[in-house]
Amino acid sequence: MKNIYNLRSIAATAISQVLEQGQSLSSVIPELQQKVSDKDKALLQELCFGVMRVLPQLEWFISQLMAKPLKGKQRVFHYLIMIGMYQLTYTRIPAHAALAETVNGAISLKRPQLKGLINGVLRQFQRQQQELVEQANNNVSHHLHPKWLLARIQKAYPQDWKNIVDANNQKPPMWLRVNQLHYSANQYIALLQEANIAAELDKNYPNAIRLLTPCSVNILPGFDKGWVTIQDRSAQGCAELLMPRDEEKILDLCAAPGGKTTHVLEIAPNSKVLAIDIDEQRIKRVKENLQRLSLHAVVKTGDGRLPHEWAAGEQFDRILLDAPCSATGVIRRHPDIKWLRRNEDIDQLVTLQSEILDAIWPYLKKNGTLVYATCSILPNENSEQIKAFLERHADAELSGTGTLETPGIQITPETIGGDGFFYARLTKQ
Ligand SMILES: C[S@@+](CC[C@H](N)C(=O)[O-])C[C@H]1O[C@@H](n2cnc3c(N)ncnc32)[C@H](O)[C@@H]1O
Repeated sequence: MKNIYNLRSIAATAISQVLEQGQSLSSVIPELQQKVSDKDKALLQELCFGVMRVLPQLEWFISQLMAKPLKGKQRVFHYLIMIGMYQLTYTRIPAHAALAETVNGAISLKRPQLKGLINGVLRQFQRQQQELVEQANNNVSHHLHPKWLLARIQKAYPQDWKNIVDANNQKPPMWLRVNQLHYSANQYIALLQEANIAAELDKNYPNAIRLLTPCSVNILPGFDKGWVTIQDRSAQGCAELLMPRDEEKILDLCAAPGGKTTHVLEIAPNSKVLAIDIDEQRIKRVKENLQRLSLHAVVKTGDGRLPHEWAAGEQFDRILLDAPCSATGVIRRHPDIKWLRRNEDIDQLVTLQSEILDAIWPYLKKNGTLVYATCSILPNENSEQIKAFLERHADAELSGTGTLETPGIQITPETIGGDGFFYARLTKQ
């Protein structure tokens, strides 16, 4: 059956929703994916994420070929042109198909009169492509990052910033977390081999497996039965550092969509976990994930700054606080972050994180353990945040993660390794 939709126009709409309305790709794409065939879902994802990854380069191409950028109601066609250029530069889609499908996107977007313009710009791009790509590659002062963010990364990592931005510009590897209640990572990798899925173990993370090529979860052995979860290697370090034990009361704060809640329960299936998140929609995903893995936790919507509303005098043996953050460690997974975040967001996030930390600390039992984690690589959200917390709370002690001068463990994103992440473990004296 012939497709009755135009995929490029759907991708242009998604990009417009992100760049014009400030929505995230991960919130926009699932809804749009429902309109397309299974075969096209991956291409939709590739086009949208790809454009976000190299946005400044595509903007520059357009600036070289069009005297006036398309604005207002016509802005979506600016993104359609970018999608055309992205396909010609970064995919193996035959040029004639990429051009025809992109130009036809103007019909689906109800402006057939713009077909000529789009076709003209893309054909001119094709003629000058080699030269334009070379020039763009020579002019990489922005490294495909916004200026403010590049400056922050360069300041925090004067030696390593280049490796970090290079890793941010790659496509991310796909990591699995094997559910130790069913299989060891060694046993599961044998199942992957039987299914012809190439993968390798990680010697530092006991349950982690990296797939050599990302694939759909539907072909992973036992995914529906909860044998395995998609989770980056670095994220797997949080629950391990928390060291939960059966029978303990554990608070997983900022829990949605439940990647770490389920990990805690795989390590300690008889622990009593309370999972809290402020976002009602995302809380539903915690419940779905628990269900898929047949695990049990109490799940509630709540604000981490107001624990009296949902913890009612309870105290916990362990608290995992996976704080809201800039997500600057996971840019390769969510390249739209580069264009959604603003410099001024960082201070606001630092304030929110410290408010949650201060509010939750009284709810940790004496001798209890708190793990503070973020997927940020910015020191103000991480080591500096924990340093200030230790100065404010005389009964808080750093437990085996970093030094008092630079508390916590900071991981930076690596091309085939884990995401950028930070963890600090504190105990209460
Ligand atoms: C990094 S994500 C958590 C990821 C999750 N721990 C996991 O492993 O799947 C941060 C979460 O913090 C939540 N959040 C933001 N502000 C919050 C607040 N004031 N109180 C509770 N949760 C909050 C967001 O809704 C988001 O789900």
